[in-house]
Amino acid sequence: MTRRAVPLGIGHYLPERVVPNSHFEGLVDTTDEWIRTRSGIERRHFAAEGQTTSDLASRAARAALENAGLTPDDIDGIIVATSTPDLTFPSVGTMVQANLGMTHGFAFDVQAVCAGFIFALCTADAMIVSGQANRLLVIGAETFSRIMDWTDRSTCVLFGDGAGALLLGAEDGAGTTKDRGILASDLNSDGRYREMLYVDGGVSSTGTSGKVRMQGNPLFRQAVDKLTQTADAVLDKTGLTAADVDWIVPHQANIRIIQGTARKMGVSMDRVIQTVQDHGNTSAASIPLALSVGVADGRIKRGDLILSEAIGGGLAWGAVALRW
Ligand code: UT7
Repeated sequence: MTRRAVPLGIGHYLPERVVPNSHFEGLVDTTDEWIRTRSGIERRHFAAEGQTTSDLASRAARAALENAGLTPDDIDGIIVATSTPDLTFPSVGTMVQANLGMTHGFAFDVQAVCAGFIFALCTADAMIVSGQANRLLVIGAETFSRIMDWTDRSTCVLFGDGAGALLLGAEDGAGTTKDRGILASDLNSDGRYREMLYVDGGVSSTGTSGKVRMQGNPLFRQAVDKLTQTADAVLDKTGLTAADVDWIVPHQANIRIIQGTARKMGVSMDRVIQTVQDHGNTSAASIPLALSVGVADGRIKRGDLILSEAIGGGLAWGAVALRW
């Protein structure tokens, strides 16, 4: 018997306000055509004034619990991946915990920017497999609209707000790749690349929250290489190949990165869940959002092999192989 962290429920929340590319034509020197062709993005959601990351995360958490037919009493803890917390502290996790009316268990945040959900998923998997927890909510939630420089056309057109939540629970498997749940993971970071994507403010430096700065083109090239490497590494750990993968559920930064990675892996685009056109880049929320969309529309089915990969500021990148 092998203890596995298996998916029990999934849900998401997107703020009501949908912002089409044309919105930016009046703001900076850009066009709908440039944004579509260079990034694949057509629209994104922005949080309403006063709506915080913990609000989005709490709604996604409730949706995942409902999807699993469980209540907050049934879970042991909450892990939130975010780089846009409501406050410097306490964590968004503890705010979600309070919003759900939970007075037991634990909650904390993980910060690995756009790769945050992968890192949070691995953390939850380790806690479940080691017996420290039986059921954990893993949430990716962001309000990147709060850290945009609205005069910088190279970043402000790319990001969006949203949240997705995955409920994981312990289940005994046979120890084979036919088991449901997380089968393998691969995590990486390299702080030498910090200049490629960062926020130019923080508590111990400027005392401000700062704005996103990005060297888009060099990052693009790093992304395709590193995402392909981490996807290969995670498949190697399982002994499976790209031909065994039912769905790639990638981080949604740019359709050309998604296509380039799928092409290098030899996986056709009809086996890739794409939400970048509707959500933009929602950083740590993008993978659970895409998973939730793929499950809700019936494409992802019980028993499917899913490969998720992400890269972001740090750089930090990684992948997870998961049987739904
Ligand atoms: O989630 C974390 C990971 N994020 C990523 O991995 C993002 C990686 N990077 C990208 O997605 C792409 O590099 C971008 C979408 C950001 C940019 O696409 P690109 O094909 O790499 O374009 P570029 O940066 O090489 O820029 C091409 C041109 C430049 O003009 P010049 O220098 O050729 O005159 C830019 O100034 O496009 C210009 N440009 C724009 N033009 C119209 C940059 N942003 C815009 C814009 N509208 N919004």
